[in-house]
Amino acid sequence: MTRAAVICGLGGWLPPRVVTNDDLPAGLGTSDRWIRTRTGITRRHRADPGSATSDLAVEAGARALASSGEPRADAVVLATTTPDRICPATAPEIATRLGLTGAAAFDMNAACTGFLYGLAAAAGLIATGAADRVLLIGAETYSCLLDPLDRGTAPIFGDGAGAVVLRAGAPGEPGAIGHIDLGSDGTGADLIAVGGGGSRQRMSGRPEQDGERYLTMAGREVFKHAVGRMADSCRTVLKRAGQEPADVDRIVAHQANIRILHQLADELGVDRGRVVANIDRVGNTAAASVPLALFHGVADGAVRPGQRTLLTAFGAGLTWGSTLLTWPELAVATGE
Ligand code: COA
Repeated sequence: MTRAAVICGLGGWLPPRVVTNDDLPAGLGTSDRWIRTRTGITRRHRADPGSATSDLAVEAGARALASSGEPRADAVVLATTTPDRICPATAPEIATRLGLTGAAAFDMNAACTGFLYGLAAAAGLIATGAADRVLLIGAETYSCLLDPLDRGTAPIFGDGAGAVVLRAGAPGEPGAIGHIDLGSDGTGADLIAVGGGGSRQRMSGRPEQDGERYLTMAGREVFKHAVGRMADSCRTVLKRAGQEPADVDRIVAHQANIRILHQLADELGVDRGRVVANIDRVGNTAAASVPLALFHGVADGAVRPGQRTLLTAFGAGLTWGSTLLTWPELAVATGE
């Protein structure tokens, strides 16, 4: 019989430093009102200088393991766009810091879709028997990629980490990951990108230019892709499951912009009240976004056992992905 990957633990962590809209540099040329009305964001968390993605990941990972009731995993997958270093991958160090030395451990970069790609990797590890329990962490310190004076990105992104533990189980049981739809379109590779630091820039023989280390985003164009790609992907997953939008109790989508979340719900014909949103307090935390939204949703009582929950994300690459599950009963520590 096919082994399904079943969510059995959930954790989240935010670095303690809060940056409100009013705390952003005056030279940014924006306002609390603009950011709130155009994005839904009121604050975000920023990691302190000296910390790195693994520090956030370890906190979230430890909480997810505690929530699962067993501090054990035989694979650790880190979804991130901001690894501690280009080499080695960050996941092995995280595994060791969590007392999981010896576990399979690797990073994956699908930007803001990383958690959905990570779920597919975890489901594959479990289905093939390569692992019985997988710790999947989405963690980011986008602070290090942001041009503090780019109003198109600096107010939008925040730092944070969210994690789940998946165990081998039966298809269809609460928490079992159903069909996963994943996709990409490299023709949009330049729409959200960091130009410097990779082999393209390093092999060019010219030194990194000022500003090349920063993330750039063609916001308006990305917005349209985000709504369309996530809606199509959600429809694919619903069709595969033989379900209608009316069957969806909760949509937990990548938190990029509250207007994207509302348009996605409208496009699918799902009541906006069924969309889980924590973007107001965390901003866009990229690969950490979906697990953090789940974590806050469960902590706030917005996501409850038995609810048909649609997970969907979109991000740089371009990449997108979705899946559907029945939310399981979990013991989640609500403190971040
Ligand atoms: N404060 C004030 N004005 C701003 C601003 C800010 N933070 N950001 C942009 N503007 C201005 C623009 O300069 C532009 O001014 P102009 O009309 O004088 O040229 C105007 O607001 C509209 O710009 P636009 O880029 O169309 O804004 P927007 O309403 O699309 O909002 C984003 C910008 C980034 C918030 C929005 O496009 C977005 O959320 N994009 C999607 C992000 C996403 O999905 N990411 C997913 C993967 S990470």
